[in-house]
Amino acid sequence: MYALLAAFAKWLEGTWWGTGARTTLWAYPFIQLIHFSGISLWLGTNVAVDLRLLGLGKNRQTAAQLSEDLFAWNWTAFCIVVLGGFLLFSATATTFITNPAFRIKLGILVPTALVWHIIVQRKARVWGRTADTPAVAKLAGLLELLLWLSVVTAAVEIPNY
Ligand code: HEM
Repeated sequence: MYALLAAFAKWLEGTWWGTGARTTLWAYPFIQLIHFSGISLWLGTNVAVDLRLLGLGKNRQTAAQLSEDLFAWNWTAFCIVVLGGFLLFSATATTFITNPAFRIKLGILVPTALVWHIIVQRKARVWGRTADTPAVAKLAGLLELLLWLSVVTAAVEIPNY
């Protein structure tokens, strides 16, 4: 399994986009800009709904309305995050796959947080119909906030290894 991943990483580094991201002076910072801009919008839209589930902004939209209104922005942002992340990864993929922080981030935390996000987003349609949200919605929103916080914590540790 690891041999397959290592072979894929080596192949990625040799692609035109992997080589370009690694060797062109401005490319890596520019791709970081793409990744970070996507993250801002992705986390921003997630946090807005999570805080609404926690009970903030009761006098404005319901959590269900807010989640619905932000849906397209939310998933457009995720595509930008993945595109940027994939290109950053392609630059030095063989190094990233040995990086413990990167492995925890992408192997455990991102999949867990993503599955939880999809569950919360679907459930928000039910939990978020009224101004007051049930206790389970508050707990779910809080858990999602903590999961994304752990993703960011692992991500900022990547350069330290
Ligand atoms: C989905 C939510 C994601 C979040 C919140 C996130 C967050 C971050 C953050 C905050 C950094 C900056 C770390 C730093 O330099 O201090 C980063 C870097 C990075 N991310 Fe993500 N990321 C996400 C998804 C992904 C995905 C899906 C991939 C791969 C396909 C990826 C690959 C990378 C890579 C390779 C770096 C560069 C690390 C470096 O150059 O040192 N990320 N990410």
